[in-house]
Amino acid sequence: GKDKELIRGSWESLGKNKIPHGVIIVVFVCARLFELDPTLLTLFHYTTNCGSTQDCLSNPEFLEHVTKVMLVIDAAVSHLDDLHSIEDFLLNLGRKHQAVGVNTQSFAVVGESLLYMLQCSLGQAYTAPLRQAWLNMYSIVVAAMSRGWAK
Ligand code: HEM
Repeated sequence: GKDKELIRGSWESLGKNKIPHGVIIVVFVCARLFELDPTLLTLFHYTTNCGSTQDCLSNPEFLEHVTKVMLVIDAAVSHLDDLHSIEDFLLNLGRKHQAVGVNTQSFAVVGESLLYMLQCSLGQAYTAPLRQAWLNMYSIVVAAMSRGWAK
């Protein structure tokens, strides 16, 4: 219903090239990770030269990961009517994150970054219902990924 319209409309308004928006996510995720849990940065291989937010931004592996995040969000938006059809994909994605040592609480940082990016890009169009609609969708994605941690 209304939620789906808000999500689709705002996602389309970001245009075809989602990477510049992804870069905003990187900046924010990076800054937040340093604040919340700098050890997460060590999960990316390049970490030896990732000593600050600035270092992250010049790091191809971190930038590539953001592209991967954006593709997953894009897939979720495309499957809003049948999110369960990507459940297995998300569960496997969760497993891969468990394997590299991510914990499920860290996904909140990415969610926060996504909202921050939308706020920056949408301006006035970033409303409370829109924020809530995105939060709902992102929690479904994270819940599906988190099933990858179940024994
Ligand atoms: C892969 C870290 C959150 C999507 C990876 C890898 C690491 C990683 C270390 C493997 C290396 C790589 O492919 O770059 C993290 C951390 C996160 C996080 C620390 C949270 C703080 C997310 C979220 C999504 C996501 C929320 C999507 C909504 C992906 C994808 C891959 C990946 C699609 C590639 C998996 C594959 O190779 O099939 N992540 N990730 N990540 N991540 Fe994340």
